[in-house]
Amino acid sequence: MTDSVTPVVLAAGKGTRMQSETPKVLHSCFGEPMLTHVLRSLSRASTGTPRVVLGSGRGEVRSRIEKDFREVVQEEQFGTGHAVRTALESSSMEDGGSLLVTCGDIPGIRPGTFDALVEAYRASEADLMLLTTRLDDPEGYGRVKKEDSGAVSAIVEEADASPKEKKIDRINTGVMIGRTSVYRNYLTDLDADNEQGELYLTDLVELLNDDGRPVDHYEVEDSWEVTGINTRRDLVTFEEEGYRRRARSLLDEGVTVRSPDSVRIGPWVTVEEDVELEGSVTVQGESHLGTGVTVRGDTFIVDSEVGSGSFVDRSTIKSSRIGSDVTVGPYTHVRPDCEVGDGVRLGNFVELKKTQVGTHSKIPHLSYVGNAEIGCEVNIGAGTIFCNYDGENKYRTTIRDGAFVGSNVEIVAPVTIGENVTLAAGSTITEDVPDESLGVGRSRQENIEEWE
Ligand code: UD1
Ligand code: CA
Repeated sequence: MTDSVTPVVLAAGKGTRMQSETPKVLHSCFGEPMLTHVLRSLSRASTGTPRVVLGSGRGEVRSRIEKDFREVVQEEQFGTGHAVRTALESSSMEDGGSLLVTCGDIPGIRPGTFDALVEAYRASEADLMLLTTRLDDPEGYGRVKKEDSGAVSAIVEEADASPKEKKIDRINTGVMIGRTSVYRNYLTDLDADNEQGELYLTDLVELLNDDGRPVDHYEVEDSWEVTGINTRRDLVTFEEEGYRRRARSLLDEGVTVRSPDSVRIGPWVTVEEDVELEGSVTVQGESHLGTGVTVRGDTFIVDSEVGSGSFVDRSTIKSSRIGSDVTVGPYTHVRPDCEVGDGVRLGNFVELKKTQVGTHSKIPHLSYVGNAEIGCEVNIGAGTIFCNYDGENKYRTTIRDGAFVGSNVEIVAPVTIGENVTLAAGSTITEDVPDESLGVGRSRQENIEEWE
């Protein structure tokens, strides 16, 4: 079988056990909504465009999650089986091919695990293949029952399990793959005759079994990655363990993590060799730390790239690209959409927003730089403020190569400062300054003698 695989992500539940106004799948794990992790993992596996079943708080979910999926609305949540049935009934779903169903509350699942499941399924004769794992403490999960022959015969939910069944340590992770037509034919036969009065997707296994259709399973060795998050306690325990593991594994990948319990590196962050991390360092989202980068102090980096040899100290960097051999901090705030060239120095108490900085420029102290394009080898003096906002609109500032901005200058945008210009300290610059000239915008000093 090499037909198409369509993922269906179940994310319509309210998540009552979270005791929250926020839908469960939006609760943050490693700094991003749980659902984002599942979708990113799917997008990196070799599957098609996911269908995401939304219900509770679906407007909020839609606005918070990047929309490279097709939405299926499950108005009322009658259980996981009903959720898949709703997806099948939606217009965007054709027959043929296979459905890879996954819950939206398993934020640790890796792309390779989806791929391995699909591969095992394609290699087998089974009509349905479950992703399972074994747990020392399986409480809360559906237990996977097997015949002596090794065939999977049923999944029993915790609430419906007998004391003997509760001892089974093989659990359903909430991920399964089967032919679309099989789901379509059998899901109509589900009933809500169970403890929770819901249509359980997991009952599909017994229905297929009764019909003599083979069900198999693929077991994940690392059960941490398929942890289901139902409560805040689950969430925090899972997240802490994820950070702890990552910090330790980086030590085996050529990265010095000096205080592993305080370093929090998210699952999608890539870290090159000879990086050094020390202190309360948090790096999240799709960030990248290049070879030989040092990050220390109370630093927060999200969705950003830091080039090789750069040094970041007690700073915040969001959705930006920092070149090689750049110095950032202490106490620099790089806000979204900045591009900082190689060899740049961003110093103490500097805030940057939507700004490009050319190579080897310096903004060493106490500045606000917003909506600007700064050339190469520019020096921005202490206390410079880019006045980019008139209360209604934002305007851009351009500073060309080699310019020298003296201390305490206000640059009132829109304005262009030419090549090799010098702006006199203390100036308020409101007009363009041509190349190679001196811009002065301040009143002359007057000394009044014997003024008393
Ligand atoms: C489910 C499985 C269980 C498995 C566990 C793995 C069922 C009946 N049980 O239990 O066997 O061990 O996941 O973590 O499938 N959802 C909908 N619509 C609904 C109900 C739920 O979209 O009507 C979504 C939820 O938003 C959630 C997912 O389905 O993302 C799973 O629902 P949840 O209530 O968390 O199921 P569990 O009790 O954890
Ligand atoms: Ca769950």
